[in-house]
Amino acid sequence: MDISTPVTRPPDLYGRPRGDSFMQKLAAFSDHAVTRLARRATPPWRPSATETPVVRELVVATRRQEAEDVVSLRLEAPDGAILPPWQPGAHLELRLPSGRKRQYSLCGDPADRYRYRIAVRRIAGGGGGSAEVHDALGEGARVAVTPPRNAFPFAAEASVLLVAGGIGITPILPMAREAARRGLDWRLVHTGRSRASMPFAAELAELAAAAADSGRVFIRPDDESGVPEAAELLSLSPAAGAVYCCGPAPMIDGVRRAFGASGASALHYERFAPPPITDGRPFELQLGDTGPVLPVPYDRSALDVLHEALPDLPFSCRQGFCGTCRVQVALGQVDHRDRRLTATERAEGAMLPCVSRAPEGERLVLEVYPYAQRLS
Ligand code: FES
Repeated sequence: MDISTPVTRPPDLYGRPRGDSFMQKLAAFSDHAVTRLARRATPPWRPSATETPVVRELVVATRRQEAEDVVSLRLEAPDGAILPPWQPGAHLELRLPSGRKRQYSLCGDPADRYRYRIAVRRIAGGGGGSAEVHDALGEGARVAVTPPRNAFPFAAEASVLLVAGGIGITPILPMAREAARRGLDWRLVHTGRSRASMPFAAELAELAAAAADSGRVFIRPDDESGVPEAAELLSLSPAAGAVYCCGPAPMIDGVRRAFGASGASALHYERFAPPPITDGRPFELQLGDTGPVLPVPYDRSALDVLHEALPDLPFSCRQGFCGTCRVQVALGQVDHRDRRLTATERAEGAMLPCVSRAPEGERLVLEVYPYAQRLS
């Protein structure tokens, strides 16, 4: 559905039915915590010999309330050691005390090699990760993290429009700073339910004040201006420039649809939630040589179907880049749609079921190891 032609009152850019309250749909935003993770000691799937993430323990040095339901954490090495570098757009994966894995964009200063900053919105009714961050990670708490990874790199084109929806400001803020530092022609628009719900207002005001001309930063609360349409957001895009967008899935989808008429030349985006399934065809999963066969409909992911049979199956990004949901295929042809596996890993039977599928009617036999006895 094209949001620019709301004949039947489509959802707004946050995915809300028009006229509903923001809070009811805030869960759909997700907080980069589109994940739920098993709490168990033994992985159900054959572990990958190539997956050996370096995990280090950091301490919460400071914690600050940035907006309604949003806290920021500054993380440091307990011994004050220098931390691995990162660039705007990078994220950090936290291994929470419960065992959940959650990914949060870095929103501090890449030049500060001794601190990372993340910001997390509490999602009522979410997978529990954001609530755990809010409830368990006070100042002095320790948390394991993996090194920064960047699935949303900033290419620093000469002219850029930065679009952030709600907590989507987290990767966008360092991009704005980098754009200002490089003297690029940049604009930033931040949308949200209300000013009180939108984090980093003071830092954005500082950026705006420091800009050589006014009109670099646009704060657009819904309760003052109404919920924006994608075309309106893109009206600020520079001719032949680039657009960077981070926000809820409906915002991303709307911006993608409206992008062609914007005059900009490149669109980069990062989702909070899994991408919609495109060109999905029904296929089957079989759990082990003799296990149950699970139909995967055209409109559901293999991970969603697997998760019903194996609630402890781990996953994290649900977008095909973290590798957490990896399973091993013993038999069948996989339609790989991830951004993580190498050609060798694919040839060896690895599959990321959060995004990858199979041709219509195909049956993929998975190695179930050693969980077959737990299948219902
Ligand atoms: S959950 Fe991250 S790749 Fe599947």
